[in-house]
Amino acid sequence: MMKKRILTGDRPTGRLHLGHYVGSLKSRVELQDEYEEFILIADVQALTTHFEHPELIHDSIYQVAIDNLSVGLDPEKTTIIQQSMIPSIAELTMFYSMLVTVSQLSHNPTIKTEARNYGYKDMTYGFLGYPVSQSADITFCNAHLVPVGEDQIPHIEMTRKIVRKFNDLYHTEIVEPEYKLSSVGRLCGIDGNAKMGKSLGNAIYLSDSPEEIVKKVKSGVTDTNRISVKIPGNPDVCTIYKYHQAFNAEECPNITSMCKNAQIGCVACKKLLAEKLNSILDPIREKRAYYESHIDEVKEIVSEGTKKANAIGNENIAKIKEKMHVVM
Ligand code: TRP
Repeated sequence: MMKKRILTGDRPTGRLHLGHYVGSLKSRVELQDEYEEFILIADVQALTTHFEHPELIHDSIYQVAIDNLSVGLDPEKTTIIQQSMIPSIAELTMFYSMLVTVSQLSHNPTIKTEARNYGYKDMTYGFLGYPVSQSADITFCNAHLVPVGEDQIPHIEMTRKIVRKFNDLYHTEIVEPEYKLSSVGRLCGIDGNAKMGKSLGNAIYLSDSPEEIVKKVKSGVTDTNRISVKIPGNPDVCTIYKYHQAFNAEECPNITSMCKNAQIGCVACKKLLAEKLNSILDPIREKRAYYESHIDEVKEIVSEGTKKANAIGNENIAKIKEKMHVVM
Protein backbone atom coordinates (compact mmCIF):
# COMPACT_ATOMS: atom_id res chain seq x y z
CA MET A 1 0.00 0.00 0.00
CA MET A 2 1.21 3.51 -0.81
CA LYS A 3 2.11 5.63 2.18
CA LYS A 4 0.19 8.86 2.60
CA ARG A 5 2.16 12.03 2.03
CA ILE A 6 2.99 14.71 4.58
CA LEU A 7 4.18 18.18 3.67
CA THR A 8 5.29 20.84 6.06
CA GLY A 9 7.71 23.73 5.87
CA ASP A 10 9.89 26.38 7.43
CA ARG A 11 10.72 29.91 6.37
CA PRO A 12 14.50 30.21 6.13
CA THR A 13 14.97 33.49 7.98
CA GLY A 14 17.45 32.20 10.55
CA ARG A 15 18.24 29.15 12.60
CA LEU A 16 15.46 27.07 14.17
CA HIS A 17 14.85 27.15 17.93
CA LEU A 18 13.32 25.03 20.68
CA GLY A 19 9.87 26.42 19.85
CA HIS A 20 10.20 24.88 16.37
CA TYR A 21 11.47 21.66 17.95
CA VAL A 22 8.52 21.26 20.31
CA GLY A 23 5.93 22.56 17.83
CA SER A 24 6.94 20.65 14.74
CA LEU A 25 10.40 19.09 14.34
CA LYS A 26 9.87 16.41 16.97
CA SER A 27 6.66 15.16 15.38
CA ARG A 28 8.29 15.22 11.93
CA VAL A 29 10.80 12.70 13.20
CA GLU A 30 8.06 10.56 14.73
CA LEU A 31 6.00 10.58 11.52
CA GLN A 32 8.74 9.87 9.00
CA ASP A 33 8.25 6.09 9.07
CA GLU A 34 4.49 6.06 8.77
CA TYR A 35 4.28 8.69 6.02
CA GLU A 36 6.19 9.79 2.97
CA GLU A 37 7.46 13.09 4.31
CA PHE A 38 8.26 16.29 2.43
CA ILE A 39 9.92 19.23 4.19
CA LEU A 40 9.72 22.45 2.24
CA ILE A 41 12.27 25.18 2.81
CA ALA A 42 10.01 28.09 1.96
CA ASP A 43 12.48 30.62 0.61
CA VAL A 44 9.89 32.40 -1.56
CA GLN A 45 7.60 32.78 1.45
CA ALA A 46 10.59 34.12 3.41
CA LEU A 47 10.96 36.81 0.72
CA THR A 48 7.46 38.12 1.51
CA THR A 49 8.81 39.55 4.77
CA HIS A 50 12.57 39.62 4.11
CA PHE A 51 12.73 40.76 0.47
CA GLU A 52 15.35 43.32 1.40
CA HIS A 53 17.68 40.61 2.74
CA PRO A 54 17.83 37.84 0.14
CA GLU A 55 21.39 36.95 1.23
CA LEU A 56 20.12 36.11 4.73
CA ILE A 57 17.53 33.81 3.21
CA HIS A 58 20.09 32.11 1.03
CA ASP A 59 22.43 31.48 3.98
CA SER A 60 19.56 30.17 6.08
CA ILE A 61 18.46 27.54 3.56
CA TYR A 62 21.30 25.21 4.53
CA GLN A 63 21.08 26.12 8.22
CA VAL A 64 17.42 25.12 8.23
CA ALA A 65 18.22 21.94 6.28
CA ILE A 66 20.87 21.08 8.90
CA ASP A 67 18.43 21.90 11.73
CA ASN A 68 16.00 19.37 10.24
CA LEU A 69 18.65 16.72 9.64
CA SER A 70 20.27 17.15 13.04
CA VAL A 71 17.08 16.38 14.99
CA GLY A 72 16.91 13.02 13.25
CA LEU A 73 15.14 13.41 9.94
CA ASP A 74 16.61 10.72 7.75
CA PRO A 75 17.35 11.85 4.19
CA GLU A 76 16.65 8.29 3.02
CA LYS A 77 13.07 8.66 4.22
CA THR A 78 12.40 12.38 4.10
CA THR A 79 12.53 14.66 1.08
CA ILE A 80 13.87 18.17 1.65
CA ILE A 81 12.79 20.68 -0.98
CA GLN A 82 13.78 24.25 -1.90
CA GLN A 83 10.53 26.04 -2.71
CA SER A 84 11.91 28.57 -5.20
CA MET A 85 13.21 25.76 -7.41
CA ILE A 86 9.75 24.21 -7.93
CA PRO A 87 8.10 25.94 -10.93
CA SER A 88 4.87 23.98 -10.50
CA ILE A 89 4.32 25.73 -7.14
CA ALA A 90 4.63 29.13 -8.83
CA GLU A 91 2.22 28.13 -11.60
CA LEU A 92 -0.31 26.69 -9.21
CA THR A 93 -0.11 29.83 -7.05
CA MET A 94 -1.07 31.90 -10.07
CA PHE A 95 -4.03 29.66 -10.93
CA TYR A 96 -5.25 29.52 -7.33
CA SER A 97 -5.03 33.30 -7.00
CA MET A 98 -8.09 33.65 -9.27
CA LEU A 99 -10.22 31.81 -6.71
CA VAL A 100 -9.33 33.85 -3.62
CA THR A 101 -10.62 37.34 -2.91
CA VAL A 102 -8.63 40.18 -1.40
CA SER A 103 -11.09 40.40 1.47
CA GLN A 104 -10.69 36.70 2.31
CA LEU A 105 -6.96 37.25 2.60
CA SER A 106 -7.20 40.45 4.58
CA HIS A 107 -9.49 38.75 7.12
CA ASN A 108 -7.06 35.85 7.63
CA PRO A 109 -6.20 36.10 11.37
CA THR A 110 -2.59 34.95 10.92
CA ILE A 111 -2.00 37.55 8.20
CA LYS A 112 -3.47 40.20 10.51
CA THR A 113 -1.29 39.20 13.47
CA GLU A 114 1.87 38.97 11.38
CA ALA A 115 1.20 42.30 9.67
CA ARG A 116 0.80 43.87 13.12
CA ASN A 117 4.00 42.25 14.41
CA TYR A 118 5.99 43.41 11.38
CA GLY A 119 4.46 46.89 11.65
CA TYR A 120 2.99 46.84 8.13
CA LYS A 121 0.52 49.65 7.55
CA ASP A 122 0.07 48.74 3.93
CA MET A 123 0.76 45.17 2.86
CA THR A 124 2.56 44.11 -0.30
CA TYR A 125 0.61 41.99 -2.73
CA GLY A 126 3.13 39.18 -2.15
CA PHE A 127 2.74 39.19 1.63
CA LEU A 128 -1.05 39.41 1.54
CA GLY A 129 -1.08 36.53 -0.92
CA TYR A 130 1.36 34.17 0.76
CA PRO A 131 -1.42 31.87 2.03
CA VAL A 132 -2.33 31.24 -1.63
CA SER A 133 1.25 30.30 -2.35
CA GLN A 134 1.23 28.08 0.75
CA SER A 135 -1.84 26.30 -0.66
CA ALA A 136 0.22 25.56 -3.74
CA ASP A 137 3.13 24.36 -1.55
CA ILE A 138 0.86 21.79 0.04
CA THR A 139 -1.04 20.63 -3.02
CA PHE A 140 1.52 20.58 -5.84
CA CYS A 141 2.40 17.08 -4.63
CA ASN A 142 -1.09 16.16 -3.30
CA ALA A 143 -0.05 16.06 0.35
CA HIS A 144 -2.66 14.49 2.63
CA LEU A 145 -1.49 15.82 5.95
CA VAL A 146 0.18 19.01 7.19
CA PRO A 147 1.63 18.95 10.73
CA VAL A 148 1.52 22.54 11.96
CA GLY A 149 1.12 24.87 14.91
CA GLU A 150 -2.17 26.56 15.64
CA ASP A 151 -1.31 29.77 13.78
CA GLN A 152 -1.23 27.87 10.48
CA ILE A 153 -4.80 26.51 10.69
CA PRO A 154 -6.37 29.42 8.75
CA HIS A 155 -3.95 28.67 5.89
CA ILE A 156 -4.91 24.99 5.78
CA GLU A 157 -8.58 25.88 5.88
CA MET A 158 -8.08 28.26 3.00
CA THR A 159 -6.22 25.54 1.12
CA ARG A 160 -9.14 23.15 1.55
CA LYS A 161 -11.56 25.76 0.28
CA ILE A 162 -9.44 26.57 -2.76
CA VAL A 163 -8.98 22.88 -3.58
CA ARG A 164 -12.72 22.16 -3.38
CA LYS A 165 -13.54 25.07 -5.65
CA PHE A 166 -10.74 24.25 -8.05
CA ASN A 167 -11.67 20.57 -8.33
CA ASP A 168 -15.30 21.55 -8.86
CA LEU A 169 -14.53 24.05 -11.58
CA TYR A 170 -11.90 22.17 -13.53
CA HIS A 171 -12.70 18.52 -12.68
CA THR A 172 -9.24 18.01 -11.25
CA GLU A 173 -8.53 15.57 -8.42
CA ILE A 174 -6.25 17.56 -6.17
CA VAL A 175 -6.09 16.11 -2.65
CA GLU A 176 -7.85 18.18 0.02
CA PRO A 177 -5.28 18.22 2.84
CA GLU A 178 -5.88 17.91 6.57
CA TYR A 179 -3.83 19.40 9.36
CA LYS A 180 -2.35 17.74 12.40
CA LEU A 181 -1.81 19.99 15.39
CA SER A 182 1.27 19.36 17.49
CA SER A 183 0.32 17.76 20.80
CA VAL A 184 2.38 20.23 22.82
CA GLY A 185 1.21 23.84 22.84
CA ARG A 186 3.37 26.76 21.83
CA LEU A 187 6.58 27.15 23.80
CA CYS A 188 7.01 30.60 25.36
CA GLY A 189 10.26 32.55 25.24
CA ILE A 190 12.74 32.02 28.08
CA ASP A 191 11.80 35.55 29.28
CA GLY A 192 8.17 34.47 29.68
CA ASN A 193 6.94 36.24 26.52
CA ALA A 194 4.20 34.15 24.89
CA LYS A 195 6.17 33.86 21.67
CA MET A 196 9.74 32.69 21.19
CA GLY A 197 11.43 34.63 18.43
CA LYS A 198 14.74 35.83 17.13
CA SER A 199 13.65 39.46 17.03
CA LEU A 200 12.44 39.19 20.64
CA GLY A 201 15.87 38.01 21.81
CA ASN A 202 14.32 35.23 23.90
CA ALA A 203 15.02 32.17 21.77
CA ILE A 204 17.07 29.08 22.60
CA TYR A 205 18.48 27.65 19.38
CA LEU A 206 19.05 24.01 18.51
CA SER A 207 22.56 25.11 17.60
CA ASP A 208 23.31 26.82 20.95
CA SER A 209 26.37 25.53 22.82
CA PRO A 210 26.04 23.89 26.27
CA GLU A 211 27.38 27.10 27.83
CA GLU A 212 24.82 29.24 25.98
CA ILE A 213 22.05 26.94 27.25
CA VAL A 214 23.21 27.37 30.86
CA LYS A 215 23.41 31.14 30.43
CA LYS A 216 19.99 31.47 28.79
CA VAL A 217 18.27 29.20 31.31
CA LYS A 218 19.85 31.22 34.15
CA SER A 219 18.29 34.36 32.67
CA GLY A 220 14.82 32.71 32.68
CA VAL A 221 11.95 34.27 34.59
CA THR A 222 10.58 32.34 37.59
CA ASP A 223 7.87 33.11 40.16
CA THR A 224 8.66 36.77 40.87
CA ASN A 225 6.95 36.59 44.28
CA ARG A 226 9.48 34.05 45.42
CA ILE A 227 12.10 36.42 46.78
CA SER A 228 13.70 33.78 49.00
CA VAL A 229 14.31 30.03 48.74
CA LYS A 230 12.38 29.63 51.98
CA ILE A 231 9.14 30.91 50.45
CA PRO A 232 7.06 28.25 48.63
CA GLY A 233 6.98 28.81 44.87
CA ASN A 234 4.16 28.70 42.34
CA PRO A 235 5.07 26.62 39.26
CA ASP A 236 1.98 27.86 37.40
CA VAL A 237 3.54 31.29 36.89
CA CYS A 238 7.10 30.08 36.27
CA THR A 239 8.68 30.04 32.80
CA ILE A 240 11.28 27.49 33.85
CA TYR A 241 8.49 25.15 34.94
CA LYS A 242 6.84 25.49 31.50
CA TYR A 243 10.10 24.29 30.00
CA HIS A 244 10.25 21.38 32.45
CA GLN A 245 6.75 20.47 31.24
CA ALA A 246 7.85 20.54 27.61
CA PHE A 247 11.21 18.78 27.99
CA ASN A 248 11.26 17.05 31.35
CA ALA A 249 7.70 15.82 31.83
CA GLU A 250 8.66 12.76 33.89
CA GLU A 251 10.27 14.95 36.59
CA CYS A 252 7.40 17.46 36.77
CA PRO A 253 5.41 15.95 39.67
CA ASN A 254 8.58 15.86 41.74
CA ILE A 255 9.61 19.41 40.81
CA THR A 256 6.11 20.73 41.53
CA SER A 257 6.07 19.30 45.02
CA MET A 258 9.62 20.43 45.83
CA CYS A 259 8.89 23.95 44.58
CA LYS A 260 5.58 24.26 46.42
CA ASN A 261 7.20 23.02 49.63
CA ALA A 262 10.25 25.24 49.29
CA GLN A 263 12.52 22.20 49.03
CA ILE A 264 14.22 23.35 45.85
CA GLY A 265 15.36 26.84 44.92
CA CYS A 266 15.14 28.44 41.48
CA VAL A 267 18.90 28.21 40.94
CA ALA A 268 18.91 24.43 41.45
CA CYS A 269 15.74 24.04 39.41
CA LYS A 270 17.32 25.94 36.51
CA LYS A 271 20.38 23.74 36.77
CA LEU A 272 18.18 20.66 36.39
CA LEU A 273 16.55 22.17 33.31
CA ALA A 274 19.84 23.17 31.67
CA GLU A 275 21.18 19.65 32.22
CA LYS A 276 18.04 18.11 30.73
CA LEU A 277 18.11 20.42 27.69
CA ASN A 278 21.77 19.68 27.12
CA SER A 279 21.15 15.94 27.32
CA ILE A 280 18.45 16.30 24.65
CA LEU A 281 20.63 18.57 22.52
CA ASP A 282 23.85 16.53 22.75
CA PRO A 283 22.94 13.95 20.08
CA ILE A 284 21.50 16.77 17.95
CA ARG A 285 24.82 18.64 18.26
CA GLU A 286 26.68 15.55 17.20
CA LYS A 287 24.64 15.22 13.99
CA ARG A 288 24.93 18.96 13.35
CA ALA A 289 28.71 18.79 13.63
CA TYR A 290 28.73 16.00 11.05
CA TYR A 291 26.57 17.90 8.55
CA GLU A 292 28.40 21.18 9.10
CA SER A 293 31.62 19.51 8.11
CA HIS A 294 29.88 17.79 5.14
CA ILE A 295 28.07 20.76 3.66
CA ASP A 296 28.31 19.34 0.13
CA GLU A 297 26.30 16.38 1.34
CA VAL A 298 23.62 18.76 2.68
CA LYS A 299 23.49 20.57 -0.67
CA GLU A 300 23.16 17.23 -2.43
CA ILE A 301 20.28 16.20 -0.15
CA VAL A 302 18.37 19.42 -0.91
CA SER A 303 19.13 19.21 -4.61
CA GLU A 304 18.07 15.54 -4.86
CA GLY A 305 14.91 16.24 -2.83
CA THR A 306 14.05 19.17 -5.08
CA LYS A 307 14.59 17.03 -8.17
CA LYS A 308 12.26 14.35 -6.84
CA ALA A 309 9.60 16.96 -5.97
CA ASN A 310 9.87 18.50 -9.43
CA ALA A 311 9.23 15.18 -11.11
CA ILE A 312 5.98 14.88 -9.12
CA GLY A 313 5.03 18.56 -9.47
CA ASN A 314 5.69 18.73 -13.21
CA GLU A 315 3.52 15.72 -13.87
CA ASN A 316 0.68 17.07 -11.72
CA ILE A 317 0.74 20.58 -13.16
CA ALA A 318 0.68 19.22 -16.72
CA LYS A 319 -2.51 17.29 -15.92
CA ILE A 320 -4.03 20.30 -14.18
CA LYS A 321 -3.29 22.61 -17.12
CA GLU A 322 -4.83 20.18 -19.54
CA LYS A 323 -8.03 20.08 -17.50
CA MET A 324 -8.00 23.89 -17.40
CA HIS A 325 -7.54 24.11 -21.17
CA VAL A 326 -4.28 25.91 -20.58
CA VAL A 327 -2.67 24.16 -23.54
CA MET A 328 -1.22 25.05 -26.92
N1 TRP B 1 3.97 29.41 6.98
C1 TRP B 1 4.85 28.45 7.60
C2 TRP B 1 5.53 29.11 8.80
O1 TRP B 1 5.55 30.32 8.90
C3 TRP B 1 5.91 27.90 6.67
C4 TRP B 1 5.35 27.17 5.48
C5 TRP B 1 5.53 27.48 4.16
C6 TRP B 1 4.56 25.98 5.51
N2 TRP B 1 4.92 26.60 3.36
C7 TRP B 1 4.29 25.67 4.13
C8 TRP B 1 4.03 25.19 6.52
C9 TRP B 1 3.50 24.56 3.79
C10 TRP B 1 3.25 24.09 6.17
C11 TRP B 1 2.99 23.79 4.82
O2 TRP B 1 6.06 28.41 9.64
